[in-house]
Amino acid sequence: MAFITSKEMLLKAYEGGYAVGAFNVNNMEIIQGITAAAKQENSPFILQVSAGARKYANHNYLIKLVEAAMLETGLDVCLHLDHGSSFELCKSCIDGGFTSVMIDGSHLPFEENIALTRRVVEYAHDHGVTVEGELGQLSGIEDAANGASDDALYTDPNDVEEFVRSTGVDSLAIAIGTSHGAYKFKGEPRMRFDILEEVSRRLPGFPIVLHGASSVMPEYVEIINQYGGQMGNAKGCPEDLLRKAASMAVCKINIDTDLRLAMTARVRKYLVENPTHFDPRQYLAPARDAICEVVAHKMKYVLGSSDKA
Ligand code: G3H
Ligand code: 13P
Ligand code: ZN
Repeated sequence: MAFITSKEMLLKAYEGGYAVGAFNVNNMEIIQGITAAAKQENSPFILQVSAGARKYANHNYLIKLVEAAMLETGLDVCLHLDHGSSFELCKSCIDGGFTSVMIDGSHLPFEENIALTRRVVEYAHDHGVTVEGELGQLSGIEDAANGASDDALYTDPNDVEEFVRSTGVDSLAIAIGTSHGAYKFKGEPRMRFDILEEVSRRLPGFPIVLHGASSVMPEYVEIINQYGGQMGNAKGCPEDLLRKAASMAVCKINIDTDLRLAMTARVRKYLVENPTHFDPRQYLAPARDAICEVVAHKMKYVLGSSDKA
């Protein structure tokens, strides 16, 4: 087993009409739950770490936890930086053992995004690491509600060829209507497949990445609400739309919120049902099982990646 890049697995996913799940990790139970599901489903997967996760858990702890999971499961792991905001952060992750990084210059003017992304690509490729760039903004409904035009947020297909050619990125995240978190759509969920189609027409065979792709699984939202939570109008991406994207050029689908909801639901339920218990192992074990169940469900029914390892 080894740390591997995302290069081969995303190209294979493109060819096979499925997507690889990129799951955010913050602690031991999450890493154990995801890797257990990947082994059970014989599925490719990516473990991704945000700047916030790295701050919370510490780089060395995360590396060693992932190494422990590899030892225990015998699996190869692609360890990816999610939403890298600077060259320095990407470099630090590359130097510290990550095999893939995202440089997120999507908020910058086009030329500045290209310059920053190209700088990261040069360093990463020199070190055998793959790079994901981003064009378009996933700001979501808050910005639209605040008066920003919807069209300004979506990826403009006219930009993608120049961006990929000038930067040398290995994959590209695009904005087609999804957003991060548990409140993705005010009205009916809508994903702009016309943009995805046009992007893939202009970049044949090139792996596209979808962020903000949790379904906000109603069964977990319901448990949270039933056991004292207040999730209000939580709404995510319908599974059939994600499955459709995975069968198209989308080769990497990012999922964090659904893991958070599943863990929280199980912990809430356990503590309400067992008010006298206080051993963290008693509520973290079911939370870890929930991670494994959600990830296995995604691999089987959303990503289509089961038995593709
Ligand atoms: O895209 C954001 C991911 O869900 C990570 O979130 O920055 O709170 O760790 P975080
Ligand atoms: P969700 O909030 O929909 O899980 O998206 C996660 C993500 O895009 C991480 O980069
Ligand atoms: Zn994201």
